[in-house]
Amino acid sequence: ENAERAKLIEAHELTAKLYHYMLNNSKQGVEAKRYLRERGLSDKLIDHFMIGYATDEWDRLADFLAKRGFDLALMEKGGLLSAKTDGSGYVDRFRNRIMFPIWDKDGKTTAFAGRIIGEGQPKYLNSPETMLFTKSKIVYNLHHARTAIRKSKQAVIFEGYMDVIKSWSAGVKNGIATMGTALTKEHCAIIRRQAEEAIICYDGDDAGQAAALKSIPMLEAAGLRVTVAVLPKGKDPDEYIGEYGPDEFLREIVDQAVSITKFKLIYSRKNHILLKEEGKKNYLLEAVDIVAELSSPIEREVYLKELSREFDISLESLKQDCHRKVQELQ
Ligand code: CTP
Ligand code: MN
Ligand code: MN
Ligand code: MN
Ligand code: MN
Repeated sequence: ENAERAKLIEAHELTAKLYHYMLNNSKQGVEAKRYLRERGLSDKLIDHFMIGYATDEWDRLADFLAKRGFDLALMEKGGLLSAKTDGSGYVDRFRNRIMFPIWDKDGKTTAFAGRIIGEGQPKYLNSPETMLFTKSKIVYNLHHARTAIRKSKQAVIFEGYMDVIKSWSAGVKNGIATMGTALTKEHCAIIRRQAEEAIICYDGDDAGQAAALKSIPMLEAAGLRVTVAVLPKGKDPDEYIGEYGPDEFLREIVDQAVSITKFKLIYSRKNHILLKEEGKKNYLLEAVDIVAELSSPIEREVYLKELSREFDISLESLKQDCHRKVQELQ
């Protein structure tokens, strides 16, 4: 088992180098390189994240590994190759995809995520679960980000690889992501070991905002303070940086991360049409419920005052409704 692990890690490290080499030096890699350029990735960034390209061939990697004496059955078990259906051998698992190496906490390559060039399904093809790689326990980019996380005591959590990478180039050195799965308890515990605060920075679509709402209690349960950096509707961090640039991303998004209560208020607000009396009333009722979750009366009053001012409702009424809800919650 240990010998197999060591062999597989060695194979993954070599494979990452092969993919990276093919992106930078092969004719087949030109289109992939152009795609990455168009998405705003510099050579420096491509090198730092060891981004590569798996060519559109059936056995490029299989040959490469066989020549170096690796046991192909083990390589299949490790997710680098796929067994042919007729049992006559092995083919490459990743073909014609942009390759992102996934590292374990020590920075060893233990898996890959392969993105299709342009549109198509599946957008990302990931390594399967193997003896090296468990999705629920791997935090993308943690080994790069660890120093910055420890220093700032904050970790910024993104949805995707490109968000981590583009944000890194914008100066967010403490960015991490889960591997295309929802945040797990294990992820939260791993993050808590390095950070005191988690800044959620998910996509500005409904899925992203709903995922944020789900992640909040899990991160809190792990003992992290949580804030949320909210993206405008329909933009993810990678797209935001592409459109508005790195400085604006830092200034307007990351630095403006809001409290959980504020985030929930913003989220609830989006779901109501405030111009209509009915919408306004429903929003206010929901807002009061959100505020009631706060344990500190002072904190509650701060938010209620804001609502009172904005909607021209007496603080007294808001307090009364809120108080009722607080008692319900107890
Ligand atoms: N994901 C995945 N498999 C898919 C789609 C998504 O594993 N078929 C994961 C990836 O980790 C991806 C993340 O979920 O980075 C977020 O998905 P999405 O927002 O759709 O992708 P982006 O990260 O925005 O990818 P890109 O910018 O390359 O389009
Ligand atoms: Mn590196
Ligand atoms: Mn998304
Ligand atoms: Mn996205
Ligand atoms: Mn994106």
